[in-house]
Amino acid sequence: MHSHVLPGVDDGFRDIEHSCRAAAALAELGVRNMILTPHIYPELYPENDVDFIRRRFSEHHDRLLSASGVNFKIAGEHMVYEGFGETLEGELLVLPGRHILIEMSYAYESAGIDDVIFRLNCLDYHPVLAHPERYIFYSSDLKRIRRIVDMGCELQLNLLSLGGFYGKSAAHKAAAILEAGLYSYVGTDLHSLAQIDMLRGMRFRKSHAQELERIMTGTTALFI
Ligand SMILES: [Fe+2]
Repeated sequence: MHSHVLPGVDDGFRDIEHSCRAAAALAELGVRNMILTPHIYPELYPENDVDFIRRRFSEHHDRLLSASGVNFKIAGEHMVYEGFGETLEGELLVLPGRHILIEMSYAYESAGIDDVIFRLNCLDYHPVLAHPERYIFYSSDLKRIRRIVDMGCELQLNLLSLGGFYGKSAAHKAAAILEAGLYSYVGTDLHSLAQIDMLRGMRFRKSHAQELERIMTGTTALFI
């Protein structure tokens, strides 16, 4: 439900050949459904509006499907930046069931994030904050993260965080958020083929098995 496998649109995969290899490798690991979620952030990717991303998806969909047999959907990972309030008035690229994947800068919390979560809920969207464990401004006492959840925003874990791929602090926070039962979804946030090798090599703590299974079931339910 979170990946950058649609080629040539952001900092993820650059060409369709590599995207097809990634999709086939994930299918081999048991992935049956995938949502492609390119970054939507006009300041960094000015071309990535809803129409452009949809066009790129329809250009590449058939090759991705025939390489892997995976069921693909298109959505976006919306950056909550200064101008996001205006974006809200237009069309958004959402996950199934009007869930909307949002992200922030890793270095500082988006100004007005509380207001954005409130407005998204008022507009009948279900905000899902991507990889809260990666934001350096959230401490592992989880106070602020709990507040985000209480305001009506669900959380998505990057699976690789648990394996230490993004560093010790992210791994520590991911474990804390998971153990507190605060995640609703899990995704790969896949950007490269190398990350698939890392996923393959990952080992999980036994004590995390039950929570991981719960959020995997929740994630799969997005596709039903
Ligand atoms: Fe992402």
